[in-house]
Amino acid sequence: MEAGSSAKETVLITGGGGYFGFRLGCTIYRKGVDVILFDVMKPLQPVPEGIKFIQGNVCCLAEVEEALKDVICVFHIASYGMSGREQLNRKLIEDVNVKGTENVIQACKSTGVSSLVYTSTYNVIFGGQIIENGDESLPYLPLHLHPDHYSRTKSLAEMKVLKANGTELGNGKGVLRTCALRPAGIYGPGEQRHLPRIVSYIERGLFKFVYGDPLSLVEFVHVDNLVQAHILAFEALKANKKHIAAGQAYFISDGRPVNNFEFFRPLVEGKIDQVTEKMKVHYCKQRVIFRYNGTLKTDLFSPVGLYSWSTPFIPMKFVLYDPEGKKLTL
Ligand SMILES: NC(=O)c1ccc[n+]([C@@H]2O[C@H](COP(=O)([O-])OP(=O)(O)OC[C@H]3O[C@@H](n4cnc5c(N)ncnc54)[C@H](O)[C@@H]3O)[C@@H](O)[C@H]2O)c1
Repeated sequence: MEAGSSAKETVLITGGGGYFGFRLGCTIYRKGVDVILFDVMKPLQPVPEGIKFIQGNVCCLAEVEEALKDVICVFHIASYGMSGREQLNRKLIEDVNVKGTENVIQACKSTGVSSLVYTSTYNVIFGGQIIENGDESLPYLPLHLHPDHYSRTKSLAEMKVLKANGTELGNGKGVLRTCALRPAGIYGPGEQRHLPRIVSYIERGLFKFVYGDPLSLVEFVHVDNLVQAHILAFEALKANKKHIAAGQAYFISDGRPVNNFEFFRPLVEGKIDQVTEKMKVHYCKQRVIFRYNGTLKTDLFSPVGLYSWSTPFIPMKFVLYDPEGKKLTL
């Protein structure tokens, strides 16, 4: 996707009608690559001229295969069950996140798509335990310990995507290269999933402040940083980058760990001014704690000169502790 590259490439984005997928599609298109957005739902915003939208379902292999013709890379972003009422629909969560991912892998193989970038989540290693200074060498959280269907199925899907790395493509077109990106919570302009919900809780006086050890830190990722990470991953699956991302999983965050309270403080304080009468603030011990010791790891893409964006791509480093606070040996 370097500026001025001659051959026109086409990429397909499953979940391209959603918040992140649409943003990724628009950015890639502006870089001169043809983009197909593939989603069960039409995007909320008008689709810019030149970008193709296909209404389709990842649960239907034939629809995915049909859409993948002449595509060089799939960004598999479609997912279901992350928050709200969706979380209760176990069957659909399994179908979309697991079966849908199997279909995408199968369709890549049968149609000869050589690159697959999967949008995973940090939940694949996280089940509420304290993690300090961990990195991608952390093991998957055992599947039975996942607190929700979404996290478990995202984990299963990521494993399938990474296992598919190196498998033969149909028609002797080489091998499939895959990688997985694990974002923290996504925020940014127009975000509809998290912030509006929190605002509505505050307005209804239902917001419970989760405030614990001030040294407890969490990570978020701005949508445009996540876009950049996906573009880097796409490039890093190519032969001219020696496929260095192939078979890899990467945590993606802003690289600025922050206390949860501090992250939401401007929003909450702004809202409190408006709803002081209704507002109730509860303090409780923070359950989810990422402790960060300031060690930065930047070696994932830099060896091939891909480390080139303005906000650094700095995966988190963690150390695992057991419930008694003893360091776990990995
Ligand atoms: N939002 C976050 O904080 C967060 C955090 C970590 C990981 N992620 C991951 O990032 C990705 C993007 O998240 P988002 O917030 O943009 O989600 P989103 O809900 O806005 O987008 C997901 C899209 O997938 C589509 N989709 C659902 N089922 C489908 C199906 N069967 N076939 C085709 N499309 C289908 C939906 O219609 C939606 O447009 C997801 O894979 C999610 O798991 C998100």
